[in-house]
Amino acid sequence: MLTPLLKLLRYSDIFVVAKIAIRMHKEPKALIILKRTWGDYCLLGFRAERIATEAQPGQFIMVRSGDNLHPLLRRPISIHSVQDDTVEIFFQQAGIGTRLLGQKEKDDTLDIIGPLGKGFHLENSLQEKSVALIGGGRGIAPLYFLAHKLRNLGALPRIYYGGRTINDIPLRKKFEEEDFEILLTTDDGSFGSKGQVTDLLHVSLQDFSPIRIFACGPEAMMQKVSRIAREKNIAAEFSLEAIMGCGFGACWGCVRKLKNDTQEEWSKICEEGPVFPGEKIIWQEEEQ
Ligand SMILES: Cc1cc2nc3c(=O)[nH]c(=O)nc-3n(C[C@H](O)[C@H](O)[C@H](O)COP(=O)(O)OP(=O)(O)OC[C@H]3O[C@@H](n4cnc5c(N)ncnc54)[C@H](O)[C@@H]3O)c2cc1C
Ligand code: FES
Repeated sequence: MLTPLLKLLRYSDIFVVAKIAIRMHKEPKALIILKRTWGDYCLLGFRAERIATEAQPGQFIMVRSGDNLHPLLRRPISIHSVQDDTVEIFFQQAGIGTRLLGQKEKDDTLDIIGPLGKGFHLENSLQEKSVALIGGGRGIAPLYFLAHKLRNLGALPRIYYGGRTINDIPLRKKFEEEDFEILLTTDDGSFGSKGQVTDLLHVSLQDFSPIRIFACGPEAMMQKVSRIAREKNIAAEFSLEAIMGCGFGACWGCVRKLKNDTQEEWSKICEEGPVFPGEKIIWQEEEQ
């Protein structure tokens, strides 16, 4: 019984991986043309024409961070922005891989594959409608690309951007300079409203009625956003994080239990997500 099942699993995996492999692009020498840093945070812009042409907000790339075999695994990083043939990523140096990535300089090259995963849902019905984008810390990364796409679509995005301190909201000026409506919070009150970004969201929804919420950030933050969205009956989408081995469905390293109709089943975050509608997500506190 088990053997045919395993065979089926392997064949279906091979099929899915092959399908993704056809769509994704490998850029072993993407030239870095821009670098900006703010403390632990870093933005790199590099030429990757095919990825730039096809990328959608919420999709990600897998990037090799070192020049040798350590660390062996690529790291998943969201696509932060796309302009002509250039892709930008914005990341926080959290550990070995992202620290090595932060040491890259202009004129170095990056070894990347992408675009990967399924991003945020954008439909024409969002035109002329208010939508809320909630980013916590490095979770702001994919929301910049999303904000641009939403604006181009004719939607009215309002961005809520929160961090622990002023040092954790370095992209605020970028949004302000481009005339996005942006509300800022810091936990310690060093900039913007004092408190968590979810507190501000909660209060502001008394006189602001978005038809969709898009969120990316720490799991605890997204769980609070999900609760608020449910209370107010607003559809919400979340970009989930998971430790990833391959990024395209081959290794099962990123699985998480999600709701599928009435059942719960293991899902690959890299392939079915990383963006999921709120009703599919089983938040960690809810797990048995
Ligand atoms: C789809 C996706 C998109 C992402 N986009 C961005 C982005 O745009 N900007 C950004 O700064 N980060 C992003 N991340 C998180 C980023 O991938 C991790 O911070 C990175 O892989 C850590 O690698 P490291 O070698 O620096 O840290 P490690 O030395 O491997 O680990 C340092 C710490 O980070 C934790 N960690 C490792 N990998 C992950 C992970 N994938 N998710 C959550 N925690 C992890 C470890 O448990 C450990 O506590 C994204 C993650 C996913 C899954
Ligand atoms: S990271 Fe390999 S299957 Fe998702």
